[in-house]
Amino acid sequence: AQAEKAPYPHFMLKEIHEQPQVIRETLRGRIEGTEIAFPGLKLDPGFLKSLRRLYITACGTAYHAGLIGKMLIERLVRIPVEADIASEFRYRDPLLGPGDLLVVVSQSGETADTLAALREAKAKGATVLAITNVVGSSVAREAHEVLYTWAGPEIAVASTKAYVAQVVLFTLLAVYLARLRESAPPELLRELAAGLPGLSETVQAVLAREEEIAALAGARKGWEHTFFIGRGLDWAVACEGALKLKEISYIHAEAYAAGELKHGTLALVTEGVPVIALATQPALWEKMQSNIREVKARGADVLAVTGAKAAEIVAVADEAICLPPVHPLLAPVVAVVPLQLFAYYAAVARGCDVDRPRNLAKSVTVE
Ligand code: G6P
Repeated sequence: AQAEKAPYPHFMLKEIHEQPQVIRETLRGRIEGTEIAFPGLKLDPGFLKSLRRLYITACGTAYHAGLIGKMLIERLVRIPVEADIASEFRYRDPLLGPGDLLVVVSQSGETADTLAALREAKAKGATVLAITNVVGSSVAREAHEVLYTWAGPEIAVASTKAYVAQVVLFTLLAVYLARLRESAPPELLRELAAGLPGLSETVQAVLAREEEIAALAGARKGWEHTFFIGRGLDWAVACEGALKLKEISYIHAEAYAAGELKHGTLALVTEGVPVIALATQPALWEKMQSNIREVKARGADVLAVTGAKAAEIVAVADEAICLPPVHPLLAPVVAVVPLQLFAYYAAVARGCDVDRPRNLAKSVTVE
């Protein structure tokens, strides 16, 4: 195993660095110019056009990809999407039936709760589309249709490249469905499709700033709890950033919708508490600026992950990682990368066993 991760000290770091390639692989054969197609996908276009709502279910990191899928599909396809954790979804007699589509997301394709939700949906007559990374996995075999994330084997327990591939796939799916249903302005859909292949280079540009991000993580010493805040897509990215940090560094991290802070959580923001503020959506910068001011006023140490031209965010944060220019709807793919590196270097600084965190399994096949 030592040889396989070389020259990287951990599989997680290797897999983080594979992401530009994974983005290319996940797009391969599915995008031609600005045309999107899913060769081999047999879902009837009539069925996809008639969908009145959509369900997404998954566990852990895959669920966080599902949250982004929900927001992108709602935004572009204009139908309600419910995204829920599989262990909740399956036990609540989900309102699924013939004519409904459930998208299940699973890197391994073996997660017990996700598989059980899939079976429950099938038993109720719904159609199941799986997004998975493992060919021939239980989820792949049992779903009606499969879209593979071509991320290659993921060894580190904390998922990175599979998540990025899941988000890319949801973006493709949202644009594809929106074209089919003519539910979004064609020029917006063209812009998104044209922007997708470039994500590989954009992520590469973020990876080139690894040292800067490592220094930001290393500089925060003796912290035991932190908040990740954001709105909309950034909130979903914040959820994933917080999970990464918890999984491998054991620092308590809570992701919070920035606007909800004042309804209780702000009480926990005191002098020196690190807050990672996600602000990649220009339409929400003004609101995020006031949320950052709110936590700054309580003494928080704010690290912003924001856009290239976000002067109003940079002005109020203590430090900022400014991402390369990217369309706001594509930003989740890019914004998660510094958070992965941040979690990685925070864990390394604390001497944690990054690839094999305590109490966690790569694939949870028991309920
Ligand atoms: C475990 C892993 C997580 C993963 C989750 C779902 O808890 O530790 O990293 O996100 O399972 O796994 P799946 O294979 O279904 O995506």
